[in-house]
Order: sequence, then structure tokens, then C-alpha cells
Amino acid sequence: MSKNIIFYFSGTGNSLKVAKDIANAIEDCELISMRKSRKLSSTYERIGLVYPIYIGGMPGAVEKFVKALDLSVNNNSYIFAVCTSGSGSAGGMTNISKIIGGKDGKLSYGESIKCFSNYVGLYAMGSDADNKAKAQALATKKVIKDIQNLVVKPPLKNSPLALIHGLLINSLATKDKGFNISEACNGCATCSKVCPVENIKMQNDKPMFLHHCEQCMACVQWCPKQAINYKNKTQGRGRYHHPDITIKEMINEK
Ligand SMILES: Cc1cc2nc3c(=O)[nH]c(=O)nc-3n(C[C@H](O)[C@H](O)[C@H](O)COP(=O)(O)O)c2cc1C
Repeated sequence: MSKNIIFYFSGTGNSLKVAKDIANAIEDCELISMRKSRKLSSTYERIGLVYPIYIGGMPGAVEKFVKALDLSVNNNSYIFAVCTSGSGSAGGMTNISKIIGGKDGKLSYGESIKCFSNYVGLYAMGSDADNKAKAQALATKKVIKDIQNLVVKPPLKNSPLALIHGLLINSLATKDKGFNISEACNGCATCSKVCPVENIKMQNDKPMFLHHCEQCMACVQWCPKQAINYKNKTQGRGRYHHPDITIKEMINEK
């Protein structure tokens, strides 16, 4: 059994990279995807939750995961949350703090890291991925120091965006009806493998969306043929994933 554990959710690798960097630095740390809820039968010194901000708050899948997390033998663990976001200040953590508090645990530390903004359904991808990755790595270093030293820091208060988060987050599930597949699709199933919520099933070598989408855009962003688009919006918007994260890492879940 390891001493520390980090759970992550990631569509384009920013959060996975942050989670990986923290795990490597604090050592003796398991890194586990939130794809599967997990019963914590052992006691950990540190429990980490790393995820992107969607509409000023947690992705629905993250909320579900945290709600299902059994903290009964970890009530005194140092629990930290680190969210990645495009704006840096969008990290509302009031909700996650409340969920953990409701399980007799305590969110001891919360921080947000500014990363490349990846919502290709809304805007074109920037051309500064490498610079953003450098800035992300620098910001992560500071967070790592805090977590190594078990620094207690009140989690970030919700941003004003969080007011609409509750209203909009559930509407994302069926937005996958807007995805279309071009003739470039060769049925490689990368989309289905990288989807963090198993929302894509291959049928006759073509992706079929199952309407419990998080809009993480992993399918659009990682498709090697750029064959998946959202309505007619993403065709000319470029594609992004964190430069240090490979498809293999996104797929290789524990
Ligand atoms: C559906 C969606 C909603 C997003 N909402 C916000 C937001 O409210 N504020 C923000 O700063 N960034 C927002 N972003 C950008 C991501 O939080 C950011 O790029 C994050 O680092 C992506 O992490 P990942 O690579 O681990 O998926 C959003 C991205 C997506 C896909």
C-alpha cells in the first residue's frame, strides 16, 4: 500500500500532468483515474483530487466521484484539491469542500493552476501551448511545495461563474448530439479509449455517443485524423493536448 493517493480527471492532459508532477514529487503515491469510483480501505497520509474547472466548478463526473468516495478510514487525512483552468481564477471549491465536509473529512488545501484553455467547442485553440505548459509547470512547483509540507490553506471561494455552474453543468450530458464524424474517420477507436466517462461506443467502426458526455472534448482533441467535430464550429479551430502527455498515458488507466 502506498502512503499517498491522487485521483484525477482529465480531457486533454493538463490535469493529468499536474497530478503526475505532484505524485512524482511527493513519492510513494498512487495515481488513479476517476473513471472508476474507488473504496478507500486503507488510510493515506495525503489524498489528492485533481481536475479541470468546467463553467466555474467541478465537472459532473468529478462531483459524482467525490460524492461516492468513502472516507470512513481517512477522516484525518490531508485532503487536497488542485484544479486546472484556463483563467486561473475560475476555481470554485466551495462545493467540493462541502461534499468532503459532509463525509466528516476536511479539504485542507485547495489551489488553482492556470493552464492552456481547451474548450474547443467555444473558441479556437491558442498557438502558445508550450509557453502555457511552462507556466503550468512553474505554478505546479509552488503547489507541490505546499503539499509536501502539508500546508493548510482554505480552498478557493466559488467564482461568480459558479452561480450558473449548477444550471449549466447538467446540460452538457446531451451536447454530444452535436458531434459529427467526417469521412476521415478510420475506426481506430482512439476517441472511445480516451473518453474519461466511457461515453463512446464503437459501432460498425464508427463512434456512437451515449449521451452522458462531460464535454471534455478529449474525443475531438485526440482524434489522430481530426475526424470528430462539434457541429460546424471546430473545423478550423485547431487541436490541443498537453505537450508532455501521450495518448498512451491518457488510455493507460489503473
Ligand atoms: C466544458 C469546459 C468548460 C470549461 N470551463 C472553464 C471555466 O469556467 N473557466 C476556466 O478558466 N476554464 C474553463 N475551461 C478550460 C479548462 O478548465 C482548462 O483548459 C483545463 O486545464 C483543462 O484540463 P484537462 O486538460 O485536464 O482536461 C473549460 C473547458 C471545458 C472543456
